[in-house]
Amino acid sequence: MKKSERPTPSDSTSLSRRTLLQGASAAALLSVIPRESNAGPAHRVALTSAQPAAEKSKSFPEKFLWGCATAGAQVEGNNTTSDLWALEHIPDGMFKEPSGDACDHYHLYAQDIAMLADLGFNTYRFSIEWSRIEPAEGQFSNAELNHYRRVLAACREHNLTTLVTYSHFAMPLWFAEKGAWQNTVAADRYARYCERATKHLGDMIDFASTFNEPDIPQLLNWITFAPAQGPSLTDMFQQALVKARVALKTPEFASFFAADPQRTRDGLLAAHAKGKSAMKSVRPSMPVGFNLAMSDDQPASTDSHVAEKRADIYGPWLEAARTCDYLGVQMYSRAIVGKKDLPPPQGVELTQMGYEFYPECVEGVVRYAAKEARVPIYVTENGVATDDDSRRIEYYRRALAGLKHAIDDGVDVRGYVTWSLLDNWEWMFGFGPKFGIVSVDRATQKRTIKPSAAYLGNIARGNSL
Ligand code: BGC
Repeated sequence: MKKSERPTPSDSTSLSRRTLLQGASAAALLSVIPRESNAGPAHRVALTSAQPAAEKSKSFPEKFLWGCATAGAQVEGNNTTSDLWALEHIPDGMFKEPSGDACDHYHLYAQDIAMLADLGFNTYRFSIEWSRIEPAEGQFSNAELNHYRRVLAACREHNLTTLVTYSHFAMPLWFAEKGAWQNTVAADRYARYCERATKHLGDMIDFASTFNEPDIPQLLNWITFAPAQGPSLTDMFQQALVKARVALKTPEFASFFAADPQRTRDGLLAAHAKGKSAMKSVRPSMPVGFNLAMSDDQPASTDSHVAEKRADIYGPWLEAARTCDYLGVQMYSRAIVGKKDLPPPQGVELTQMGYEFYPECVEGVVRYAAKEARVPIYVTENGVATDDDSRRIEYYRRALAGLKHAIDDGVDVRGYVTWSLLDNWEWMFGFGPKFGIVSVDRATQKRTIKPSAAYLGNIARGNSL
């Protein structure tokens, strides 16, 4: 991908290359014999070591989950009661363009889910949107809860396992106006929502996640703009926060990205614990975990701070993962870590996000995560932003070869979910980056299946490379 083809920020507060969700990539490590998990028997898998040698070379473990992921704010369209909707509409704000109708998945979910199943996948990961379910504080919408029940029913109809994220970055505007995760009662507010949503939907959820990538606020601080020494992304988001508070005339406003990172982490950790308890109090057998953003962290040749980076970003979350039923890991590239993450090496292929094209990150991350978390691992996001679908196929080929290698070594990975089913709204970058295995004509909402969808779907259907 040539530099000129990368998304361009709309202003100085927008994020350019290696941006924001390079974070949404990351880390590494070694095989571990899993301890018993609480995940239901249907999802327990035999380790590949029990399989005959010939089979072992190509097949994935029995009952392996193969899926695609989406997130409400990125595909549903018109999430008008969320904090992001407000931020998207600030003139010269941090978003390149508003999400608008997005992929109109809110109305087209049934056909999208049928398409996913037809392609050969057995799993759908999506988020329920808190801002729709509780648009005003304490006022829950049964109509919206019923909407998500219908989405879950469509999954059931196609025998899909459901991975449901309760919070994927976006939040109700009222919650953001009260300081979001920084507010001391945020965890209680979140737990109330978790309880209510689980009561309505829990019987149809196979795996619940409290948070998507709650480590992002810390991860951003390790990413600087090339050629180094520039402001960190955290600094840029702080500027965006000041601007948003003025524009929205709410001095307490905070968001997932734009907030104090330390207070946000404290709030998210507390909310994870209380949210998980609330879910379990309603449905004790529902497996609960969360999805961590990781990069395959590799030491720079001199002055590497890899251990410090890992302790800072992942440390508390890996500890939290040890009391979960599973851990979802999400990675897109590697990071070569000096004092901070270094820019990608000269001359390497870059993706539309400005990351190094590095599918081997999957193997590195699952080995590290499994060793540290000591619970079953699911790859809940991995993929590549590119306009050249043949590069996506190559990315999957290498990513899955690495994943298989780790599994053959005994690493307890039980699923691979790609980001993303659809070309969607990529947060600050708008609709530029193409992560989807299916393209979307935004004028007509017509879906077109790309060759990479057939490639990955065939692997999923055969459970074999
Ligand atoms: C996020 C997605 C995002 C993807 C690609 C992950 O960080 O969970 O919402 O679109 O990375 O950048």
